[in-house]
Amino acid sequence: MTEQESYPVPAEWAARTQVDAAGYASLYGRALGDPGRFWLEQAKRLDWIKRPEIAGDWSFNEDDFRIAWFPDGRLNVAANCVDRHLKTRGDQTAIIWEPDDPADAARRFTYAELHAEMGRFANVLKAAGVRKGDRVTIYMPMIPEAAFAMLACARIGAIHSVVFGGFSPEALAGRIRDCDSSIVITADEGRRGGRPVPLKANVDAAAGHAPSLKTVIVVKVTGANVAMQDGRDHWYEDLASRAGTDCPVEPMGAEDPLFVLYTSGSTGKPKGVLHTSGGYLLWAALTHELTFDYRAPSIYWCAADIGWVTGHSYILYGPLANGGTTLMYEGVPNWPTASRIWEVVDRHKVEILYTAPTALRALMREGDAPVQRTSRASLKLLGSVGEPINPEAWRWYHHVVGEDRCPIIDTWWQTETGGTLIAPLPGATALKPGSATLPLPGVDPQIVDAVGNVLTGEAEGNLVIARSWPGQMRTVWGDHARFFQTYFSTYKGKYFTGDGCRRDADGYYWITGRVDDVINVSGHRMGTAEVESALVLHPKVAEAAVVGFPHDIKGQGIYAYVTLNANEEPSDALRKELVAWVRTEIGPIASPDAIQFAPALPKTRSGKIMRRILRKIAEGDTSNLGDVSTLADPSVVEHLVANRAA
Ligand code: WTA
Repeated sequence: MTEQESYPVPAEWAARTQVDAAGYASLYGRALGDPGRFWLEQAKRLDWIKRPEIAGDWSFNEDDFRIAWFPDGRLNVAANCVDRHLKTRGDQTAIIWEPDDPADAARRFTYAELHAEMGRFANVLKAAGVRKGDRVTIYMPMIPEAAFAMLACARIGAIHSVVFGGFSPEALAGRIRDCDSSIVITADEGRRGGRPVPLKANVDAAAGHAPSLKTVIVVKVTGANVAMQDGRDHWYEDLASRAGTDCPVEPMGAEDPLFVLYTSGSTGKPKGVLHTSGGYLLWAALTHELTFDYRAPSIYWCAADIGWVTGHSYILYGPLANGGTTLMYEGVPNWPTASRIWEVVDRHKVEILYTAPTALRALMREGDAPVQRTSRASLKLLGSVGEPINPEAWRWYHHVVGEDRCPIIDTWWQTETGGTLIAPLPGATALKPGSATLPLPGVDPQIVDAVGNVLTGEAEGNLVIARSWPGQMRTVWGDHARFFQTYFSTYKGKYFTGDGCRRDADGYYWITGRVDDVINVSGHRMGTAEVESALVLHPKVAEAAVVGFPHDIKGQGIYAYVTLNANEEPSDALRKELVAWVRTEIGPIASPDAIQFAPALPKTRSGKIMRRILRKIAEGDTSNLGDVSTLADPSVVEHLVANRAA
């Protein structure tokens, strides 16, 4: 039914928009019709040290596989995000920082102040020996220094690798090792929801498994007593007091790396997604402007964490490239009360709010009162990202939060895509709850069946993108073969997203979720293989199989089937121990929601685990398990059904 439910562009938006329906059609047509010309024209959004004369140079075919954008251009990303605004916006607020505890004062940084702080941080990094091309691991809470550090890296041409502060020492160590980083920037502790997060202690624990690590820079946040290792650990404040604020920019090739960001895939350990300078920044800036109809200095808040790609593209790079005012929030959505998000909106007069369905579902459960006791009069637009938004949450966001006046901009994209690929434009696109609607200019989506036939018109299948766009990832750090293999080998000549998708009669796209072994827990990607590897490291576990199942708040929960070693007995205590084990191995976001002890897993005669059956049992859909006759031992299934974890 939701396909028929449609919300036209509100009259106020139609009147004020920069891009109306005809404007969108024209942009879309030009971008695919004459891409070379279109993208060189778009490139003028950025300040180039040397303006490019080549736009895209790419092929998705194995024999001449390559992806480059503006390869002859030179620029510096940090200069584009800060320096070039100094003349016109030096006194405008660039970053508003809202602390975890509402009793603490917010902080604001103008573009001029941001320029100085970034320069100081860059000089600290240089003094610590960081050079162009070096990897810098950033394991920080949501504090302004995290933004300064990222921009400082970009300024001197170092490649940042931000690791979400919720990851465990083990996960952090793996990410330091993989990109061979010798320096970590962290804080004594983070603060979230009134509780400390032991970041420095985690770095200490990670260091033992990360031999490349030589230097740790620690920003003082809570003043907690943390161990400092002589020669390795330094307080940022000490280094900063000896550093000037002027730091020249490093001229970078458009294809020089900007950052690595680790994300989960269907197999193996997390992969380092590499983004480069020119194309990525252009994509972040263009999509930020189009999807939010953004005009500086409108107050804009993306409530993601800087440790995820959403934080990279839409807290930092996109908004700052556009000369915007971006809000950074240290805390969590529901602390100290379920009104917190809306109080922050009121306190800073936020016009554009961009958050995730999982947060909305959690807040929705608290009822309308915590929303209604706030004003929210400043809000003009509401964004959503991270997973399909269920129509119920969409309507609540639209009606209760936005009082029917704010368009809901549901943005579909991935760490790999650098920025949004499918989303409505607020002044151009009629909305349908649950649909990310239409592709952005330059994006050429196709729906294909299992063998790669392109399906036209109304269709459901797998989502591929048939052409490159400037924000596309360029490689998997250290493993270019894996890059090709993961994304370009399933459907020849096309980028495979890993998502299922339906297109309706109006040409609207409806993402149906992952079709690979990746699950989406509270908008965070988790590879089932990663959780399985963590579980089998436990001395009592013989085998594990992990699947996703529908979860009211998280979207998907983690359901683990665990086979114990022959002499071990299942117990509730062991179940708890295994949950704690996974938290230590990966982090709290990977905690299994349900563990079912299984004497055996359903396998084919060739030994392949039949995940389809495990998924159905986890979902509670046991009436129709399909054909189980190919199983080596069909009776295994009966046992699993009878002992489903509640
Ligand atoms: C899912 C987050 C439906 C999708 C930016 C994708 C979505 C994965 C949406 C990428 C959306 C993200 N509607 N599904 N608006 N946004 N997804 O890399 O399955 O953390 O493949 O990037 O999240 O997650 P990632």
